[in-house]
Amino acid sequence: MTAGVAAGVAAAGRELRLPSYGVTIASGALARIADIARAAAPAHRYAVVTDETVGPLYAVAVTRALGHGAELFTIPAGEASKTRETWAALTDAMLAAGLGRDTTVVAVGGGVVGDLAGFVAATYLRGVPIVQVPTSLLAMVDASVGGKVGVDTPAGKNLVGAFHQPAAVVIDPEVLRTLPLAHRRAGLAEILKHGIIADECYFAEVEAQLETLRGGLTGADPASAAAADDDGHGDLHLLAATIARSVEIKSAVVTADERESGVRKTLNFGHTIGHAIEQLSAYTLLHGEAIAIGMVAEAGLGERLGATEPGTASRIERAVRDAGLPARVPGEMTAPAILEATRSDKKARAGAVEYALPRRIGAMAGGERGWSVRANDSDVLAALAAVRAEEPA
Ligand SMILES: NC(=O)c1ccc[n+]([C@@H]2O[C@H](COP(=O)([O-])OP(=O)(O)OC[C@H]3O[C@@H](n4cnc5c(N)ncnc54)[C@H](O)[C@@H]3O)[C@@H](O)[C@H]2O)c1
Ligand SMILES: [Zn+2]
Repeated sequence: MTAGVAAGVAAAGRELRLPSYGVTIASGALARIADIARAAAPAHRYAVVTDETVGPLYAVAVTRALGHGAELFTIPAGEASKTRETWAALTDAMLAAGLGRDTTVVAVGGGVVGDLAGFVAATYLRGVPIVQVPTSLLAMVDASVGGKVGVDTPAGKNLVGAFHQPAAVVIDPEVLRTLPLAHRRAGLAEILKHGIIADECYFAEVEAQLETLRGGLTGADPASAAAADDDGHGDLHLLAATIARSVEIKSAVVTADERESGVRKTLNFGHTIGHAIEQLSAYTLLHGEAIAIGMVAEAGLGERLGATEPGTASRIERAVRDAGLPARVPGEMTAPAILEATRSDKKARAGAVEYALPRRIGAMAGGERGWSVRANDSDVLAALAAVRAEEPA
C-alpha cells in the first residue's frame, strides 16, 4: 500500500505512486513480477489469467516466476471471450484447482483479459485481489487503471461488472514489441483523449511525436512490420514516458471520482458516438479506431452546440490521421443508425443522450452541469453527416 502518497512523479522506469495502489512502469518490469505481486498482494496461490496469444509470449514465464502453486488459465483471444460463459468456465476451473480465499488473480494480457480476470477476482469467493499486467497499449493506458471490470452481454458491452481496484499494475513497455501495429495505434486514440480532456501540453507533445509513436513503416502490413521489429529502442522510451503521463491523467480523474458520478464522465469523450460505431461495425473496427472517429464527430458536435472552441475538431482530426487512425464514419453507416445506437449506451439517461465534450484541447466543457452536455437529435445528425467518409447521394 502507498496510502497517503499523492498521485505524481510519472517517469519511465520509475514507480508511479497513487493513493491506493502502485503502478510500475519500467522496461524489464515483467521479470520482477514475483517480487511486485508478493509485496502488493501476498497470496498462497496465484491464478494467472491470459489469452492464447499472450500466454506463450509472456504469461507462461510469469506463472513460472510466481513459483509453486501458481496456475495458468488461458482463454481464447478476442472480445468474444469477454462473456459470462467464460467467467463461469474460469471460476469453475479455479474452484476445481482448489484455489481458496488466499488467492491473488494476475491478469496478463490486453483489456479483454484484464476486464474478465478483474471480474473473476471481484466475484471469486466474494472477492480476491487482482494484479493487472496489461500487455496492449490500450490496456496499459486505459483498461488496467481505474478498477472497472466486467463482461459483455448480448444486450451490449460491459453491462455486467463491478468496481474492483487492482492491488498493483505492472507495465513493461518491452512487450509492445510484439503487439500488432493496428493495436498500438488503437491505444494512441486513448492517449490523444487524455491530452484532450486534461492537458494541452501533453496533447501537443504527443501530436509532435505521432510519426514515431504510431510505429512501423508507412503502408507496411502491420503484422509483418511488428514481426520485423522496426521499432528502435528510443521509440520504447518515448512510449514509456507517454504511457506514464496517460496513466497519471487517468488515475487522477478516477481517484477524484471512483464511481463515475462526476468528473470521471470526461473519460467518455468520443465514446458515445464511438461505441455506437464500434457496435455497428460488428466489432470489425478496433475500439480505439471507433473512438478516434467518435472524438472527431463529438468535437464537431461540441462546436455546433457552441460548447467547443472552433478549430478543435479539425486539430483532433489531424492528430487522429497522423496516428494512423480512421477519422471518418464508414460510408455504409447512416447517421440515423448511429444516433439510434447511441441510445442503447449506458451513458444515455432519461431519453436524452448526454455527451462529454471538450471546451478546447486540454479542458472539458460542462463542469457546472456534471460534465455532460445534452444534445438534440438534429444536432447529432448534422455532426455525424459532417464526418461521413462519403456524402450520401
Ligand atoms: N476497464 C476499463 O476501464 C476499460 C477501458 C478501456 C477498454 N476496456 C476494454 O478493453 C478491451 C480492449 O482491450 P484491448 O484493445 O487490449 O483488446 P484485447 O485484449 O483483445 O487485445 C488485443 C489483441 O492483442 C493481443 N495482444 C495483447 N498484448 C499483446 C502483446 N504484447 N503482443 C502481441 N499480442 C498482444 C491480444 O491477444 C488480442 O488479440 C475491451 O473489451 C474494452 O471494453 C476496458
Ligand atoms: Zn475507450
